[in-house]
Amino acid sequence: MQISNELFLRAFTDERLPRPPVWLLRQAGRYLPEYRASRAKYARFMDACRSPSFCAEVLLQPLDRYQLDAAILFSDILTIPDAMNLGLSFEAGEGPRFSKPLRDEATIRALRAPELSSLQYVFDAVSECKRALTTGDTQSVPLIGFAGSPWTLACYMIEGAGSASEFASVRRMLFQRPDLVAHILAVNTDIVADYLEAQAHAGANVLMIFDSWGGVLSPMQYAKYSLPSIGKIVAALKVRLPHTPIITFSKGAGHSLAAQSECGADAIAIDWQTDLARARSAVGSATTLQGNFDPALVTTDDATIRRTVAETWEGFDPCRRYIANLGHGITPDADPALVGALVSAIRDTGSQQICSMNL
Ligand code: CP3
Repeated sequence: MQISNELFLRAFTDERLPRPPVWLLRQAGRYLPEYRASRAKYARFMDACRSPSFCAEVLLQPLDRYQLDAAILFSDILTIPDAMNLGLSFEAGEGPRFSKPLRDEATIRALRAPELSSLQYVFDAVSECKRALTTGDTQSVPLIGFAGSPWTLACYMIEGAGSASEFASVRRMLFQRPDLVAHILAVNTDIVADYLEAQAHAGANVLMIFDSWGGVLSPMQYAKYSLPSIGKIVAALKVRLPHTPIITFSKGAGHSLAAQSECGADAIAIDWQTDLARARSAVGSATTLQGNFDPALVTTDDATIRRTVAETWEGFDPCRRYIANLGHGITPDADPALVGALVSAIRDTGSQQICSMNL
């Protein structure tokens, strides 16, 4: 199966590119009216995720609108805790909920990794997305597979929901019973590595680990709990899939970029609180950076977007080892026209004003 646009894959090499590749976190989602129309056919979000044809359909929607250089599998990080039978549901406007969260020692000690076969629908979705990317009219771009980090999954599994208090009860457990949290992390680490490997075998070209809640930890706890479990997954995957690039994203952990680069991932995604030029000096020249426009930008206006793209890249070379993206997912209130304006501004600014000047 051929990929016609390989710019994204070339950003994982030392090659100097004519412009930076661009894709957007949550590029398929509720800000798009066509996504809302497709989604309306399913009462429950997880039922939609279980349909490979739905996943492929909504995967293509942003690619048909915008000139993007990569596609991300349509799924969710909570597929793994769901397969652990923790009773996942998504309540409208409230986000994810687990009816059987991990609250006591006996439940935690009994936790086992699910059989990979219970996640076969995800691997089927990967194959279907890959087929859709390479056989239809949409330009064929690389497919990114993904999983949540062991720590971020543990946050949802223990709390039983998203959290306005930044998972305070999970952080309390980390202080009082670090052994229990360590057990959950160990179970999650093994299954996330196997899950990502299976996505690559099903057709994913690049793998991304979302540590969306790494930043709720102190730098010391992050280095002790979240980062090592990510490092173990990267190390396992580098043995099993030496040619598959890996992106890690610990939101809110810009304090630990040098340590993150030591994990051996090919790319590190950063949030908008982290300066790109400083991130470059922290990680060195051999690690690709991805990011980091504020998702609020696609709720502003065209002129602001153009100005911000240029400002964000001041003192930074966007044409080598860099993937343009947001610093977190597009929000449902994003304006689809402004998402297009951001993609165009990135392509224009990247190719005309900066990359040619630096040649
Ligand atoms: O283009 C894409 O990126 C789509 C694929 C995708 C989804 N979720 C679809 C989705 C990806 C990569 C995710 C990852 C994900 N899911 C993360 C990590 C990235 C991040 O944002 O930090 C996290 C923390 C989750 C957990 C999760 N799933 C939340 C917090 C929510 C939102 C709940 C709400 O109602 O606001 C979801 C649901 C979800 N996942 C939606 C989509 C499009 C919306 C649900 C719907 O369509 O009904």
